[in-house]
Amino acid sequence: MNILLLGSGGREHAMATKIAESTLCDQLYIAPGNAGMNDCGTTVPLDANNFDAVGQFVVNHEIQMVVVGPEAPLVGGIVDYFARSAQLKDVMVIGPSKAAAQLEGSKEFAKDFMLRNGIPTARYKAFRRETMNEGANFLETLKPPYVLKADGLAGGKGVVILNDLNEAKQTLAEMLTKKKFGNAGKTVVIEEYLNGIEISVFVLTDGKHFKVLPAAKDYKRIGDGDMGPNTGGMGSVSPVPFADKEFMKKVEHDIIAPTIKGIHREKLDYRGFLFIGLMNVEGNPYVIEYNCRMGDPETEVVFPRIQSDIVEQMGLAWHQHLTHTALDINPQTAASVMLVSGGYPESYKTGFTIEGLEKITDSTVFHAGTALNDKGEYVTNGGRVLCFTSLANTLPEALLKSYQSAKLVSWRGCYYRKDIGQDLLKYLMKP
Ligand code: AMP
Ligand code: GLY
Repeated sequence: MNILLLGSGGREHAMATKIAESTLCDQLYIAPGNAGMNDCGTTVPLDANNFDAVGQFVVNHEIQMVVVGPEAPLVGGIVDYFARSAQLKDVMVIGPSKAAAQLEGSKEFAKDFMLRNGIPTARYKAFRRETMNEGANFLETLKPPYVLKADGLAGGKGVVILNDLNEAKQTLAEMLTKKKFGNAGKTVVIEEYLNGIEISVFVLTDGKHFKVLPAAKDYKRIGDGDMGPNTGGMGSVSPVPFADKEFMKKVEHDIIAPTIKGIHREKLDYRGFLFIGLMNVEGNPYVIEYNCRMGDPETEVVFPRIQSDIVEQMGLAWHQHLTHTALDINPQTAASVMLVSGGYPESYKTGFTIEGLEKITDSTVFHAGTALNDKGEYVTNGGRVLCFTSLANTLPEALLKSYQSAKLVSWRGCYYRKDIGQDLLKYLMKP
């Protein structure tokens, strides 16, 4: 079949690589993709949020499956757009409907869903401008640190964590009255702080059944030791050493199963990937957030470990025929290191020639933000530029391979974290 993948980052390059491996895939198109993805498909300059243009392309190129990488087209209703069209309704669009995508699109919706379905999460309340004073009173009932979340999509930047009560009240006021975070902050969720270590869990669901994908940990801050501002992700590791069989059993029983049951009971049309961000609090999982898509840079370590045919699995999900057999997963460890532009996540320049890519032999290179210049050389074209993923029998070996690859590549201002995975080594020593 012909497949169209929407998106342009490292996540989509990792998905494209796996999709292209499938014997079920004839032509793979990636819109808009990036310069590095030409090795697995044809990139096309389409805006994923322009549904008319996407629909027209699908008709013209006889596409049978559309895989949606990022959240924006899903929250914007691409699944509903296809379902409503006589010409497009049989195209398998992999992702949730607009209503189901509210699990990511609205933090208040997601928290209410968790409460209704008995899914462990931090205690919370949502406030609007009219109820700002109640919000300030609610903050007084909580212990610091205080967690304030803009309700809507804010590109991963809508969460503020503060230690000082007065500062928290002031930030609440700025979010509700001064549009800090724009319309995304018209409603603010205030919640209890969860103290633990984070893990990203992924499932492919047909709205009733589910398959658990490998779990991963990502590294969000720019600096070593988790210092500095948040980024789109600086590296990732899968599997996660502290997520042993016992913990994953709890995740499946306490979190995944009731989530999918809730989706089914509430008649949400969800046929795609669900990303559950969890906090491990003393061995028990609590949901921090749902995302209606795969994670980035987690996909860069999760997808390389999947040995089952992902196109077949996505097709089964769309047809609501997912079975309970487990996916085939490579037991090795995958570790990824993200190379970014100097200055990122604040301002940075692009267009620098990338040297040394041809020397990489021990890692898979996923392009996150590259372009080709008029000499046909790869140049930087984003904050996050390249992701190096390596597989090995142990976490230290996988990390070593990715770091050795990182050393071979350079451009002006290239930066990467040097401590990916280091916090996990202690769990490997556990008896
Ligand atoms: P979110 O956008 O909901 O994923 O939040 C962004 C980040 O803020 C998360 O990845 C966590 O590191 C942190 N965070 C969010 N909610 C909480 C919470 N209730 N307790 C502690 N940390 C949190
Ligand atoms: N890595 C976190 C995300 O994709 O939202």
